Amino acid sequence: MNLELSPSVKYALNFFHPVMMWGLLLLSLYAAYLGLQVQRTRSATGDEKKELIKGKFNNRHFQMGSILLGLMVAGSIGGMAVTYINNGKLFFGPHLIVGLAMTSLIALSAALSPYMQKGANWARTTHILINFTLLGFFTWQAFTGVQIVQRILSKA
Ligand code: HEM
Ligand code: HEM
Repeated sequence: MNLELSPSVKYALNFFHPVMMWGLLLLSLYAAYLGLQVQRTRSATGDEKKELIKGKFNNRHFQMGSILLGLMVAGSIGGMAVTYINNGKLFFGPHLIVGLAMTSLIALSAALSPYMQKGANWARTTHILINFTLLGFFTWQAFTGVQIVQRILSKA
Protein backbone atom coordinates (compact mmCIF):
# COMPACT_ATOMS: atom_id res chain seq x y z
CA MET A 1 0.00 0.00 0.00
CA ASN A 2 1.37 3.41 -0.90
CA LEU A 3 0.09 6.14 1.42
CA GLU A 4 0.39 9.64 -0.04
CA LEU A 5 1.63 11.42 3.08
CA SER A 6 4.40 13.99 2.96
CA PRO A 7 7.65 12.98 4.74
CA SER A 8 7.19 15.66 7.40
CA VAL A 9 3.66 14.45 8.23
CA LYS A 10 4.94 10.88 8.44
CA TYR A 11 7.73 12.02 10.74
CA ALA A 12 5.41 14.08 12.95
CA LEU A 13 3.05 11.10 13.32
CA ASN A 14 5.84 9.31 15.22
CA PHE A 15 5.37 11.53 18.25
CA PHE A 16 1.64 11.15 18.69
CA HIS A 17 1.67 7.68 20.24
CA PRO A 18 4.57 8.28 22.70
CA VAL A 19 3.05 11.52 24.04
CA MET A 20 -0.41 9.95 24.36
CA MET A 21 0.98 6.87 26.13
CA TRP A 22 2.91 8.95 28.68
CA GLY A 23 -0.35 10.76 29.45
CA LEU A 24 -2.07 7.40 29.77
CA LEU A 25 0.60 6.17 32.20
CA LEU A 26 -0.25 9.08 34.51
CA LEU A 27 -3.97 8.33 34.08
CA SER A 28 -3.30 4.69 35.04
CA LEU A 29 -1.64 5.77 38.26
CA TYR A 30 -4.64 7.95 39.05
CA ALA A 31 -7.01 5.03 38.26
CA ALA A 32 -4.95 2.82 40.58
CA TYR A 33 -5.26 5.41 43.34
CA LEU A 34 -9.03 5.56 42.86
CA GLY A 35 -9.24 1.73 42.87
CA LEU A 36 -7.36 1.55 46.15
CA GLN A 37 -9.77 4.12 47.61
CA VAL A 38 -12.67 1.84 46.51
CA GLN A 39 -11.02 -0.93 48.48
CA ARG A 40 -10.49 1.34 51.51
CA THR A 41 -14.15 2.39 51.37
CA ARG A 42 -15.22 -1.25 51.39
CA SER A 43 -13.23 -2.13 54.49
CA ALA A 44 -13.77 1.10 56.47
CA THR A 45 -16.32 1.40 59.29
CA GLY A 46 -18.31 4.15 61.03
CA ASP A 47 -17.59 7.82 60.31
CA GLU A 48 -14.56 7.05 58.18
CA LYS A 49 -16.75 4.91 55.90
CA LYS A 50 -19.37 7.68 55.62
CA GLU A 51 -16.67 10.16 54.67
CA LEU A 52 -15.15 7.81 52.07
CA ILE A 53 -18.55 6.99 50.50
CA LYS A 54 -18.97 10.73 49.81
CA GLY A 55 -15.87 10.51 47.59
CA LYS A 56 -17.83 8.30 45.13
CA PHE A 57 -14.60 6.47 44.39
CA ASN A 58 -16.38 3.49 42.79
CA ASN A 59 -18.04 5.73 40.15
CA ARG A 60 -14.90 7.75 39.57
CA HIS A 61 -12.76 4.64 39.27
CA PHE A 62 -15.16 3.00 36.82
CA GLN A 63 -15.25 6.15 34.65
CA MET A 64 -11.47 6.57 34.71
CA GLY A 65 -11.12 2.84 33.96
CA SER A 66 -13.42 3.13 30.94
CA ILE A 67 -11.47 6.08 29.54
CA LEU A 68 -8.26 4.12 30.08
CA LEU A 69 -9.68 1.07 28.30
CA GLY A 70 -10.75 3.04 25.24
CA LEU A 71 -7.57 5.09 24.94
CA MET A 72 -5.24 2.15 25.53
CA VAL A 73 -6.83 0.02 22.80
CA ALA A 74 -6.87 2.98 20.36
CA GLY A 75 -3.34 4.09 21.33
CA SER A 76 -1.90 0.62 20.88
CA ILE A 77 -3.49 0.12 17.46
CA GLY A 78 -2.35 3.68 16.60
CA GLY A 79 1.26 2.73 17.49
CA MET A 80 1.06 -0.19 15.08
CA ALA A 81 -0.52 1.96 12.38
CA VAL A 82 2.23 4.60 12.59
CA THR A 83 4.93 1.92 12.63
CA TYR A 84 3.42 0.42 9.49
CA ILE A 85 3.03 3.79 7.73
CA ASN A 86 6.68 4.65 8.37
CA ASN A 87 8.32 1.27 7.83
CA GLY A 88 5.94 -0.77 5.68
CA LYS A 89 6.06 -3.47 8.39
CA LEU A 90 5.82 -4.09 12.13
CA PHE A 91 8.84 -4.93 14.30
CA PHE A 92 8.35 -8.24 16.05
CA GLY A 93 10.05 -7.10 19.27
CA PRO A 94 9.32 -6.75 22.98
CA HIS A 95 7.44 -3.43 22.63
CA LEU A 96 4.98 -4.97 20.18
CA ILE A 97 4.48 -8.21 22.15
CA VAL A 98 4.09 -6.50 25.55
CA GLY A 99 1.83 -3.85 23.95
CA LEU A 100 -0.51 -6.50 22.54
CA ALA A 101 -0.47 -8.40 25.85
CA MET A 102 -1.42 -5.19 27.71
CA THR A 103 -4.25 -4.50 25.28
CA SER A 104 -5.70 -7.98 25.91
CA LEU A 105 -5.21 -7.72 29.66
CA ILE A 106 -7.05 -4.41 30.02
CA ALA A 107 -10.00 -5.83 28.03
CA LEU A 108 -10.15 -8.86 30.33
CA SER A 109 -9.84 -6.64 33.38
CA ALA A 110 -12.67 -4.32 32.29
CA ALA A 111 -14.87 -7.32 31.39
CA LEU A 112 -14.84 -8.27 35.08
CA SER A 113 -16.78 -5.07 35.96
CA PRO A 114 -20.33 -6.57 36.06
CA TYR A 115 -19.08 -9.42 38.27
CA MET A 116 -17.30 -7.06 40.66
CA GLN A 117 -20.46 -4.98 40.88
CA LYS A 118 -22.37 -8.11 41.90
CA GLY A 119 -19.81 -8.50 44.68
CA ALA A 120 -17.87 -11.49 43.34
CA ASN A 121 -14.57 -11.70 45.22
CA TRP A 122 -12.89 -13.87 42.57
CA ALA A 123 -13.52 -11.06 40.07
CA ARG A 124 -12.02 -8.43 42.39
CA THR A 125 -8.93 -10.48 43.11
CA THR A 126 -8.42 -11.20 39.40
CA HIS A 127 -9.04 -7.54 38.51
CA ILE A 128 -6.44 -6.33 40.99
CA LEU A 129 -3.90 -8.98 39.93
CA ILE A 130 -4.32 -8.16 36.23
CA ASN A 131 -4.10 -4.41 36.77
CA PHE A 132 -0.99 -4.36 38.88
CA THR A 133 0.64 -6.61 36.28
CA LEU A 134 -0.55 -4.05 33.73
CA LEU A 135 1.11 -1.20 35.64
CA GLY A 136 4.37 -3.18 35.70
CA PHE A 137 4.17 -3.79 31.94
CA PHE A 138 3.36 -0.11 31.42
CA THR A 139 6.61 0.93 33.13
CA TRP A 140 8.49 -1.48 30.85
CA GLN A 141 6.71 -0.07 27.77
CA ALA A 142 7.70 3.45 28.81
CA PHE A 143 11.40 2.39 28.82
CA THR A 144 11.36 0.48 25.53
CA GLY A 145 9.13 3.19 24.02
CA VAL A 146 11.61 5.95 24.85
CA GLN A 147 14.37 3.81 23.28
CA ILE A 148 12.31 3.64 20.07
CA VAL A 149 11.82 7.44 20.17
CA GLN A 150 15.61 7.88 20.55
CA ARG A 151 16.18 5.61 17.54
CA ILE A 152 13.72 7.69 15.48
CA LEU A 153 15.40 10.97 16.55
CA SER A 154 18.89 9.69 15.75
CA LYS A 155 17.78 8.61 12.25
CA ALA A 156 16.39 12.07 11.47
C1 HEM B 1 -4.63 0.74 36.32
C2 HEM B 1 -5.73 0.12 36.17
C3 HEM B 1 -6.65 -0.31 37.30
C4 HEM B 1 -6.34 -0.58 38.62
C5 HEM B 1 -4.99 -0.54 39.30
C6 HEM B 1 -7.60 -0.98 39.26
C7 HEM B 1 -7.74 -1.32 40.61
C8 HEM B 1 -8.93 -1.60 41.23
C9 HEM B 1 -9.07 -1.87 42.65
C10 HEM B 1 -7.92 -1.89 43.67
C11 HEM B 1 -10.40 -2.06 42.89
C12 HEM B 1 -11.05 -2.31 44.26
C13 HEM B 1 -11.51 -3.74 44.38
C14 HEM B 1 -12.16 -3.92 45.72
O1 HEM B 1 -13.27 -3.46 45.88
O2 HEM B 1 -11.54 -4.49 46.61
C15 HEM B 1 -11.10 -1.93 41.63
C16 HEM B 1 -12.48 -2.06 41.47
C17 HEM B 1 -13.14 -1.87 40.29
N1 HEM B 1 -12.59 -1.56 39.05
FE1 HEM B 1 -10.61 -1.27 38.69
N2 HEM B 1 -8.62 -0.94 38.33
C18 HEM B 1 -8.07 -0.53 37.12
C19 HEM B 1 -8.72 -0.40 35.93
C20 HEM B 1 -10.09 -0.60 35.73
C21 HEM B 1 -10.76 -0.61 34.46
C22 HEM B 1 -10.06 -0.46 33.10
C23 HEM B 1 -12.10 -0.80 34.71
C24 HEM B 1 -13.26 -0.87 33.78
C25 HEM B 1 -13.42 -0.19 32.69
C26 HEM B 1 -12.26 -0.94 36.14
C27 HEM B 1 -13.46 -1.16 36.79
C28 HEM B 1 -13.61 -1.46 38.12
C29 HEM B 1 -14.88 -1.71 38.77
C30 HEM B 1 -16.26 -1.71 38.12
C31 HEM B 1 -14.59 -1.96 40.13
C32 HEM B 1 -15.60 -2.29 41.24
C33 HEM B 1 -15.97 -1.02 41.92
C34 HEM B 1 -17.08 -1.29 42.92
O3 HEM B 1 -16.84 -2.05 43.85
O4 HEM B 1 -18.15 -0.72 42.73
N3 HEM B 1 -11.03 -0.82 36.74
N4 HEM B 1 -10.17 -1.65 40.64
C1 HEM C 1 4.70 4.69 27.80
C2 HEM C 1 5.30 5.25 26.81
C3 HEM C 1 5.38 4.71 25.41
C4 HEM C 1 6.22 5.22 24.48
C5 HEM C 1 7.20 6.37 24.69
C6 HEM C 1 6.01 4.48 23.24
C7 HEM C 1 6.67 4.71 22.05
C8 HEM C 1 6.45 4.04 20.87
C9 HEM C 1 7.04 4.39 19.60
C10 HEM C 1 7.99 5.56 19.36
C11 HEM C 1 6.58 3.52 18.69
C12 HEM C 1 6.89 3.49 17.18
C13 HEM C 1 5.67 4.00 16.45
C14 HEM C 1 5.57 5.47 16.52
O1 HEM C 1 6.58 6.13 16.24
O2 HEM C 1 4.49 6.01 16.84
C15 HEM C 1 5.70 2.60 19.37
C16 HEM C 1 5.05 1.55 18.78
C17 HEM C 1 4.12 0.74 19.40
N1 HEM C 1 3.63 0.90 20.69
FE1 HEM C 1 4.36 2.17 22.05
N2 HEM C 1 5.04 3.52 23.45
C18 HEM C 1 4.62 3.61 24.76
C19 HEM C 1 3.64 2.86 25.37
C20 HEM C 1 2.90 1.86 24.74
C21 HEM C 1 1.83 1.11 25.36
C22 HEM C 1 1.33 1.30 26.78
C23 HEM C 1 1.36 0.23 24.43
C24 HEM C 1 0.26 -0.78 24.50
C25 HEM C 1 -0.67 -0.85 25.42
C26 HEM C 1 2.15 0.43 23.23
C27 HEM C 1 1.98 -0.28 22.05
C28 HEM C 1 2.71 -0.11 20.92
C29 HEM C 1 2.61 -0.96 19.75
C30 HEM C 1 1.73 -2.21 19.61
C31 HEM C 1 3.50 -0.43 18.80
C32 HEM C 1 3.82 -1.00 17.42
C33 HEM C 1 5.17 -1.70 17.57
C34 HEM C 1 5.71 -2.35 16.33
O3 HEM C 1 4.93 -2.87 15.54
O4 HEM C 1 6.93 -2.35 16.17
N3 HEM C 1 3.07 1.44 23.46
N4 HEM C 1 5.63 2.95 20.70
